Amino acid sequence: MEERKLRRIIMFPLPFLGHFNPMIQLARILHNRGFSVTILHTSFNSPVPSQYPHFTFRTIHHKNEGEEGDPLSQSNASGMDLVAFIRQLRQSYAEPFRKSLAAEVGGKEKVCCLVSDSVWARNTEVAAEEVGIRRLVLTTSGAASFRAYTAYPLLRDKEYLPIKDSRLDEPVLELPPLKVKDLPVMETSEPEELYRVVNSMVKGAKSSSGVIWNTFEDLEHMELMDFSSHFQVPIFPIGPFHKHSENSLPTIKNKEDHLTTDWLDEQEPQSVVYVSFGSLADMEEKEFLEIAWGLRNCERPFLWVVRPGLVRGAEWLESLPCGFVENIGDKGKFVKWVNQLEVLAHPAVGVFWTHCGWNSTLESISEGVPMICTPCFTDQRVNARYIVDVWEVGIMLERSKMDRKEIEKVIRSGIIGEGDGMRERCLKWKERAIVCLSQDGSSSKYLERLVSHVLSFD
Ligand code: UDX
Repeated sequence: MEERKLRRIIMFPLPFLGHFNPMIQLARILHNRGFSVTILHTSFNSPVPSQYPHFTFRTIHHKNEGEEGDPLSQSNASGMDLVAFIRQLRQSYAEPFRKSLAAEVGGKEKVCCLVSDSVWARNTEVAAEEVGIRRLVLTTSGAASFRAYTAYPLLRDKEYLPIKDSRLDEPVLELPPLKVKDLPVMETSEPEELYRVVNSMVKGAKSSSGVIWNTFEDLEHMELMDFSSHFQVPIFPIGPFHKHSENSLPTIKNKEDHLTTDWLDEQEPQSVVYVSFGSLADMEEKEFLEIAWGLRNCERPFLWVVRPGLVRGAEWLESLPCGFVENIGDKGKFVKWVNQLEVLAHPAVGVFWTHCGWNSTLESISEGVPMICTPCFTDQRVNARYIVDVWEVGIMLERSKMDRKEIEKVIRSGIIGEGDGMRERCLKWKERAIVCLSQDGSSSKYLERLVSHVLSFD
């Protein structure tokens, strides 16, 4: 084991929480298998290294850092045109990454491979080739959404893309059970750039030495097989990452976390609507107010993560009518952030109203919590369709139809509690995830294969 510590893996996460978290979880898993890990990270949104004492961190700076008008100078990308932002990230960090990687590989310790986020794609391919190391890709979204990304050229040929409003409810015959409105796109001023990012991501995976997935075989068997039938690349579905034993770390709780747990402890089992739309999505004040009234009117206890930046143009809760929070009293709780893993594992949580980011989806399934699905963009739309129609553990509440009456109707529809067998089905998926992670389960076997694969790079 100790000898293996001499083998170093370099990891290069995309600097958004939904991508950084699974990369760090993967780092812990590989570290536990005897590898040393160096995380190369961008100066934009850089992590706090002291929180991860087992790893070496190196910050990559870009050329125009600190200059006036530097688009990467803000602290987060919430509310931005994400496609344009990713283009900026890829352009600004390509050359500095190349140099950093070369410096690492030229150092004293032997580097056995690079693990990069799939979105960095061909940026990292060229750099790894230059220094002669193998490159694995981490896909932080699910296999179903990746299948839809892979089909982009076909979707364009058949004119499903760009999406026309008149075709939203049409099935995509080549990608069942998706409808046109489920295709993984997002609003952007640079639609051609979105196609470039997606194509480059797919090509980058195809030319890699292996693709690591934060999913488990039982959940996405067909979609993983579909990938394998198109790409001659080894796959390693070893998720859910956060459920591997080395990731069940004791959490350091601040005062707010304690207050949230105390509040949850006071609620009836399976009674609470937990609401969170992840780390990037944002909304207009009008939508925010509809959600607030909908939650209030359905008279269920709720815990709502209103991240600063969630409501466009607002600091936090100031758009709520005067006295709104006071009137709700103990029935509802607004927080800026929670430890989501802890909240979902709490017995008081009855349903998760989510934007269906892949991490949130997997975290909810892993705790057996059914979902209300309001996808915002890209893979979230595919995930929502699978949650509702394939895994049958949630109901759809489309963003375009999200007024207070509809919200009340959906929450009162019985999804909390029995939910038409939904909780039971979700608990079965939870069990299947546990089986996949057990000693002879598929995720454990794939992990062993991954370790042998990386060791074979010598
Ligand atoms: C983004 C994309 O939106 C998503 O579709 C893609 O699959 C991954 O990257 P994000 O929108 O942040 O991610 O959503 P999600 O994937 O759900 O990740 C959010 C993470 O933040 C989760 O791990 C969740 O546990 C965590 N979180 C969220 C908290 O810990 N506390 C909170 O209050 C909210």
